[in-house]
Amino acid sequence: MAVDLDERCLLQVSVYQNISRISGKSPSTKVKVASAASTKYKLTPEYDPWDSESWHIPDQIRGEIQDNGPGPMTISWTNDIPGYDPSHKSFISPSMLEHLFRLEPGKTNSPSAVPERVHWTCSSFRDRCPDFRYEQYMGDDSILIKALNQLHRYGLVFVEDVPGIEQAVTEIVERIGPLKNTFYGRTWDVRSVPQAKNVAYTAQDLGFHMDLMYMQQPPHLQFLHCIRSSSAGGASLFTDSIRAARDLWKQDPQAVQDLAQYPVNFHYDHPETHYYHQERRVFEFDDKTAIASGQHTMNADSVASSIKHVSWAPPFQGPFRPQLEPFEPAHTGPVQRWHAAAKKFNAAIHQPEGIYERMMKPGECVIFDNRRVLHARKAFEVGDVGKERWLRGAYMDEDPFLSKSSVLHHRARQASQSL
Ligand code: OGA
Ligand code: ZN
Repeated sequence: MAVDLDERCLLQVSVYQNISRISGKSPSTKVKVASAASTKYKLTPEYDPWDSESWHIPDQIRGEIQDNGPGPMTISWTNDIPGYDPSHKSFISPSMLEHLFRLEPGKTNSPSAVPERVHWTCSSFRDRCPDFRYEQYMGDDSILIKALNQLHRYGLVFVEDVPGIEQAVTEIVERIGPLKNTFYGRTWDVRSVPQAKNVAYTAQDLGFHMDLMYMQQPPHLQFLHCIRSSSAGGASLFTDSIRAARDLWKQDPQAVQDLAQYPVNFHYDHPETHYYHQERRVFEFDDKTAIASGQHTMNADSVASSIKHVSWAPPFQGPFRPQLEPFEPAHTGPVQRWHAAAKKFNAAIHQPEGIYERMMKPGECVIFDNRRVLHARKAFEVGDVGKERWLRGAYMDEDPFLSKSSVLHHRARQASQSL
């Protein structure tokens, strides 16, 4: 691990910037040539932990790559880190070098490509995304990889035949990685309770939203395991907010810009026990995007794919900051523009063809991308005490999810190479 870091630092300080000069080829040619070679390699065995921090690398260090044909490339150093023997060499695999060149600012460093998002409607989701069986999800990595890919691409997965016990949701989460703990607990119940502090814990209709938008780090994945369904009502609804944003852009690009520009507040305001607050824009874009500069000519698919995050949780919205109101005629103020745009987005979310409705049965667990897929629930019959509708929920951060995807892809690649 530490050796790896040392090698990367050396490369980034030296070879990474000087490779074209050293090899006499452009980095991309070099990488292409190199990546055709074998990917088996070994890192240098000599390692002094003291040298592992990048500021010990002299500014004048230079690396010279020898392309040895198939196998790792060798780098010899001049003006090396003090303490290294003059014969010190490093070895870099073509695939690692290629990976370094592929790194983009702000993008995941995972060596495996993250599958692209697919914008879905109810019918495309139904056609392409069958349920997963609990036993297979738990026991078979080739199935888990499919479930994780579906979460990357569609943001929505259903697992069926889940045992009707409280711990089942923990097992489903921990098959991927650690749970995210919050003030709701490691796992939590969605049940109607008297004098509920949260509309989720009533039997009322709960509109489309994302959870915990009032936190700095909202959960990436949400898990809801249906242990008991209600005698009547309580269907779950899901829709793809990225698809809705794409449709809104086609119809009114200015509305997308307004939602990307003006902040909205989310809060959980119970000062005697918990107070959480966060200001967010409904759409956050990749830095690269031209949205902010007001280009209405971008095509809707590129706009949609450059959305990094959506933040939408009307049931948990707080008041706007008063200073947002400039001394302008009321109908042109930012809040009014935000509101008009939000109504249009709300209409895009509610297009019936985009909504996947499902009456979840006991033994089903839904997993969804809480920063992308909006969820809602229809009102339901409260039911007799002890027989109420009962979902058990849990959350997960994005890091463990990306890590598990990366590890599973790595293993699958290794397995296919060794065939
Ligand atoms: C929630 C929620 C959905 C449901 O608790 O945040 O969205 O089906 N619940 O009750
Ligand atoms: Zn919710």
